[in-house]
Amino acid sequence: ESRVCTVRVPINIALVKYWGKRDQTQNIPLNDSLSLTINSLHARTTLRVNYEIGTDSVKINGKSQTVTGSRYQRVFEEVRRWERKRKAGEVAEHPVSIQFEITSETNFPVSAGLASSAAGFAAIAECLQKIFGFTDSQKSQLARLGSGSAIRSIFGGLVRWRRGTQPNYEDSIAEQSFPSTHWPSLRALILVVDEGRKEYSSTDGMQRTVETSTLLERRIECCDVNIDKICAAFSNRDFSAMADMIMRDSNNFHAVCMDTSPPLMYLNDVSRTIIRLVHVYNEKNGSTVIAYTFDAGPNATLYLEEDTVQDFLDFATKQLRFAESAQTEVEEILGHKLDESVNNGALAQILQVIYSQVGGGPQLLSLH
Ligand code: DP6
Repeated sequence: ESRVCTVRVPINIALVKYWGKRDQTQNIPLNDSLSLTINSLHARTTLRVNYEIGTDSVKINGKSQTVTGSRYQRVFEEVRRWERKRKAGEVAEHPVSIQFEITSETNFPVSAGLASSAAGFAAIAECLQKIFGFTDSQKSQLARLGSGSAIRSIFGGLVRWRRGTQPNYEDSIAEQSFPSTHWPSLRALILVVDEGRKEYSSTDGMQRTVETSTLLERRIECCDVNIDKICAAFSNRDFSAMADMIMRDSNNFHAVCMDTSPPLMYLNDVSRTIIRLVHVYNEKNGSTVIAYTFDAGPNATLYLEEDTVQDFLDFATKQLRFAESAQTEVEEILGHKLDESVNNGALAQILQVIYSQVGGGPQLLSLH
């Protein structure tokens, strides 16, 4: 007997970042966070459950992963524990033989700092819910056990992860603050400036911040207020109010990283050039029409409305230098060729451009 489920789940990029845990094994955050999913970057994941004793396996983009001692094992063990408990209620001493087999493909390079684990673990949690009939709260818990930020990919729209106050952490779950249909013209533009593995993982970096930063406490005090401001701006579709808070949170997060000892320096010269460029563009525009945010890496995620994209890219191509592949991507978005004499700004090199709608949720592809 076996069950098979396939889902497609997008990554999410936070508008107010999760940084710091009060419980490291359960991934319980010190602050609430808020995000939008990036529709065009997703994991397509198949989970097979065999009701027999066997070795669990995980394959990502064709590569077998170590399961023993991994985050996957944490998730699998939790499911086995729940099933044992449930079955014990039915028939005492009922043995639980469950074997998990996961294959997952992402349509973007993993470990390019593009939140691949968020999509991956959310997809696993989604499949587990479909197969075992878990509640939404249980699904949230499973995604979170895999990777904190994954909890925000199990919903579409604007998603808030509440840190929770219960001692058993059951209320540290995600919720949708607004459906994506509320603001259909929102877009994300990701500028990939570095495709390498990140210097310090988020998991290790945030723990070092918790242990050494004195600014973190102040950051945590502000997160709820900033989330409320972004939600209010989102409700009114007030882009400039929302953008201002998004950029402030990104900068505040990277300030806290700098306040960590030794410092966590995730931004590079290209990142800083993009930050300057966005402010110059908004200034030139007379109002804030584009926002940047950076996770634990140098790649920029820009949030903007559809009608800003063309003009911003025209501006950006005069200032930044786009590598050949990125140039093709820009030409596709613009619908016309770039003038060669223009794309030599040489301020900074952009390796890849990803343009996407935002706010899409998980999609069930099949269930047997
Ligand atoms: C900077 O979710 O990767 O992207 O819970 O240890 O797996 P773990 O950390 P992770 O951290 C994400 C950090 C961030 C901000 C965010 O996505 O909120």
